[in-house]
Amino acid sequence: MEQACELSVVVPTFNERDNVGPLVDRLRRSLDGVAWQVIFVDDHSPDGTAATVKAMAAHDPRLLCLERVGRRGLAGAVVEGAMASAAPYVAVIDADLQHDDTLLPRMLARLRAGDADLAVGSRFLAPEHTAKGLTPLRRAGSRLANALARQVLRTEVSDPVSGFFMIRRELIEAVAPRLSDQGFKVLFDIIASQPAPPRIVELPYAFAERQAGTSKMDGRIVIDYLGLILTKFTGNVLPPRFLLFALVGASGVVVHMAMLYAGRAAGLSFMVSQVIAAVTAMSSNFLINNRVTYRDRRLHGLALFTGYLRFCALCAVGLVANIAIANLVHEHTPWWWLAGAAGAVAGAAWNYVSTALAVW
Ligand code: GDD
Ligand code: MN
Repeated sequence: MEQACELSVVVPTFNERDNVGPLVDRLRRSLDGVAWQVIFVDDHSPDGTAATVKAMAAHDPRLLCLERVGRRGLAGAVVEGAMASAAPYVAVIDADLQHDDTLLPRMLARLRAGDADLAVGSRFLAPEHTAKGLTPLRRAGSRLANALARQVLRTEVSDPVSGFFMIRRELIEAVAPRLSDQGFKVLFDIIASQPAPPRIVELPYAFAERQAGTSKMDGRIVIDYLGLILTKFTGNVLPPRFLLFALVGASGVVVHMAMLYAGRAAGLSFMVSQVIAAVTAMSSNFLINNRVTYRDRRLHGLALFTGYLRFCALCAVGLVANIAIANLVHEHTPWWWLAGAAGAVAGAAWNYVSTALAVW
């Protein structure tokens, strides 16, 4: 039987209402002669992107809209779109027209030829048209992100955090349960999760400027990415959330010192100030972790309150462990800083593991 669809183009969208129409027009042109479909994965965008897609889909069976409610995340959207496909090849492209859709037929040709599993659109291969859609800061950040990724992946791929690629669907399917659903590094994650290194071809393209709307890249996305690098660097020992959790812990130290200073300045005794500072820091750690580190499992209402009590109890245990281990190391080595660091790392690890299990 003839193949109904050879290529599924997955397009993650969040507030891209004015871009989806022009994108479909472009796909119709560049994929002329290919049996394709496009799967929009929209996270219930407030601007009504899904309604716009569905209005077009009513007249073209090649268009699909997977509208997710109660969830957010670029990576998860891409994975879900790919899992909805039955085609042998899956492409991923941004909705905002920053990626060059005319590359798609060439990517397809390379995969069809059978000498590659993955074709990546690279913003950095051809220096003369390097990514004019990026600000200088983004460009530098992107190069750093890529350099870190290459260390971990140990493959030659110039743009492993590209959001524009085509892959044999099997490769996503095989690793889907292991992929993170947050952040922008889904390609990196797919490559890093493969049991054997995939055969990759890279095709250069000029990263255009965004058409309508705004980018969803922010500091959280960057930390999320660094967390994943850390995970792969440690051979999956440290989970991706650990970096965020540790950063929140560091912010707690700052809160603690500020409160201690304020308490002393207000004329309170050292002991009283220290207790107030510790409780404040623990509370702010809990609230920030609940909002940021575990934003996808955020506690509300009564669960927030009981979670808070459990968090405090577990962190108190962590503090005891911290001091005990620091003392032990201090007795056996001449290095006070090693003792202090060993205690802090053990305490943080305990706090992370225990609260991940018992609070969130
Ligand atoms: N469903 C869904 N959910 N889609 C999302 C979400 C989300 O939470 N966040 C972003 N998107 C969609 C956007 O609507 C857009 O179509 C695409 O994902 C890329 O988002 P942008 O916000 O435009 O990203 P960017 O241009 O800043 O980043 C690009 O470059 C990065 C590397 O520097 C993207 O191509 C990234 O994938 C890439 O990693
Ligand atoms: Mn973009």
